[in-house]
Amino acid sequence: MPAPTPRLLAFAGSLRSGSYNRRLVHVLADGARASGADVTLIELRDHPLPLYDGDIEAAGMPDGVRVLQQLVREHDGLLVSTPEYNGSIPALVKNTLDWISRPMADGRSGTTLFTDKVAGIVSASPGPAGGLRSLIVLRDALAKLGLVVVPQQVAVGLAAERLPETGVLTDEPLRAGVHGVGAAAARLAQAQALLRASAEVAA
Ligand SMILES: Cc1cc2nc3c(=O)[nH]c(=O)nc-3n(C[C@H](O)[C@H](O)[C@H](O)COP(=O)(O)O)c2cc1C
Repeated sequence: MPAPTPRLLAFAGSLRSGSYNRRLVHVLADGARASGADVTLIELRDHPLPLYDGDIEAAGMPDGVRVLQQLVREHDGLLVSTPEYNGSIPALVKNTLDWISRPMADGRSGTTLFTDKVAGIVSASPGPAGGLRSLIVLRDALAKLGLVVVPQQVAVGLAAERLPETGVLTDEPLRAGVHGVGAAAARLAQAQALLRASAEVAA
């Protein structure tokens, strides 16, 4: 069976135009592509969702949720660059994951879309620690949803200097580290996709 091309869905957990995490997720995607992955980069501001509210869900699932669920279905994993807000992930990131986890149109849980898929995570902050605490929270949240998060991770501190508007991550060891996270996610996603394909053949 030929090795499938791994497909990864990438996004930054920030809406603002000058986001350091938007710049960083491009670096992460480059690393995954260099290791053979097909990466789809999306902007969460193109998929605006209300704050999760069971009444809104009961009245009819927002279209954006169905679009994001379909995107997750079509990919073997996620690449995420997250800001840190008060030691945790931004509400935007949690809210997006929470909506995707809700039941799909066929009634199955949205969490099944994440099962045994792969994630590579990084963070950026103007502060010296680079948002490292948000990675701990994000790793836990993604694992709870059933994703296998690769052990490598990078927090880019002093982002105002290291991630200028050009989008080039100026610190070479950090750039190599972020590429390494993307590469690890690509390799593991390929292995997981191969396992899923073999299981389907065997079934
Ligand atoms: C509500 C709020 C809380 C923040 N808390 C932290 C924090 O705990 N640690 C940190 O390093 N930066 C913190 N910051 C600063 C962010 O790292 C900074 O705004 C960063 O640029 C956000 O990422 P972005 O550039 O991708 O939008 C906080 C910012 C906001 C708005």
